Amino acid sequence: MYSERSTNTKHICECLSAKIIFIHESLLYRTIFAVNMYHFSRIILFVVACIAASDSAALVGDNNITKSTSMEESVDYTKVPFNEKPLYRPPLEEIVDVLRKRLPATFEHVEVSAEECPDLTQDPFNLTAPGLTGDAKLVELGGPPYLLPLVQRDKVYDLVALLRHLRREPALLVGAGAGPWPYVGVNCEGIVNLFVERGRVAQGTRVVTVQPEDAPKGSAGYLQRVLPPHETRSALLGNYLLSEGKPGKVIKVVAKKRIGQSNFITAIREALKEHYGDKVVGAGGAFVLRAGRVKHHVMPDFSATPLRTDAHVDAWLHYFDMRAPIVHVGTLVTGDLGLDLRVQHFHGFSEHGDGGHYHYDTTPQEAHYEGYFTLAASVVRVDQPAHTHSVGRD
Ligand SMILES: *[C@@H]1O[C@H](CO)[C@@H](O)[C@H](O)[C@H]1NC(C)=O
Repeated sequence: MYSERSTNTKHICECLSAKIIFIHESLLYRTIFAVNMYHFSRIILFVVACIAASDSAALVGDNNITKSTSMEESVDYTKVPFNEKPLYRPPLEEIVDVLRKRLPATFEHVEVSAEECPDLTQDPFNLTAPGLTGDAKLVELGGPPYLLPLVQRDKVYDLVALLRHLRREPALLVGAGAGPWPYVGVNCEGIVNLFVERGRVAQGTRVVTVQPEDAPKGSAGYLQRVLPPHETRSALLGNYLLSEGKPGKVIKVVAKKRIGQSNFITAIREALKEHYGDKVVGAGGAFVLRAGRVKHHVMPDFSATPLRTDAHVDAWLHYFDMRAPIVHVGTLVTGDLGLDLRVQHFHGFSEHGDGGHYHYDTTPQEAHYEGYFTLAASVVRVDQPAHTHSVGRD
């Protein structure tokens, strides 16, 4: 499945190819040598990059291709550390009261309830299972230390193998992570959305890359693609909600018109943190931005120079304003539990091709969020980096 942007890129490529043929002919027949060769070679490089990019898009979009022949195997889960710690799980009604009381500091209009999850397989959520409940846990895989200051390319994780290792089936896994660069060809955002039942994988995972892949910051676009069912890897880091994907009671939060500084998720997390203090609460789920725009980032390919500070990371990331309606999946947790956790992480995808890592809405007046969350009973920490740092956590 392609976004419009892929078609646009192809169209631009075709136009530029036509232009080059035209320039080529004029060189031959009119022997005009006044062409600025510098610009000419730049155009050729751009066209080659475009053609390569649209070819790889075609490759990824085609569900019939055989498994990537890349050498990168998934980490062996019997050889990496696993650590599971319980989370505090208050009654849903109590959470509803806490959020009703505290969210109005950030949003003018707030509705919170505990209710049956709507069928999340339906538009716009399009999750691969109808609900979020059933033995719900948070899973945090790897971490930013595998991405920064320099990438560790051995950190590739097959998520279906992970579910098998955890003996989970049926299993819904949704959330924010790094996409499978060995498959895509470059570093990318991963919007994980997969369901495994009776050995069958329902794949709704998207990846988003900067487009063209080597475009300098400021002149790049982005491309969202759906991964085929056999490509179930992720890389480097990830924050996922793991459950049986069953219907059941969840917390519904509707928030409109932002009047505070925090983003939607930060406002929820801080409200819970203020109320529950040292009792660490974790939740995961999905929210849709129904109106307005959001600032997202999309990671470009790995940096060849070490990214040692948040300023380095900020200069490396590509930022975009993205349009509603846009659905986000991910997790939040109110404490660290000594596990070096990322306290919140949501990635978004959409029908119109916008998608990436959620920062905040840029249109407070119009902001309209609707989210569904389930509480997690524990957090499963997988392959926690032995050496850590605090860079790249935003
Ligand atoms: C969700 O599913 C509907 C119906 O199949 C489809 O029209 C829509 O494009 C999907 N949305 C996304 C974001 O993929």
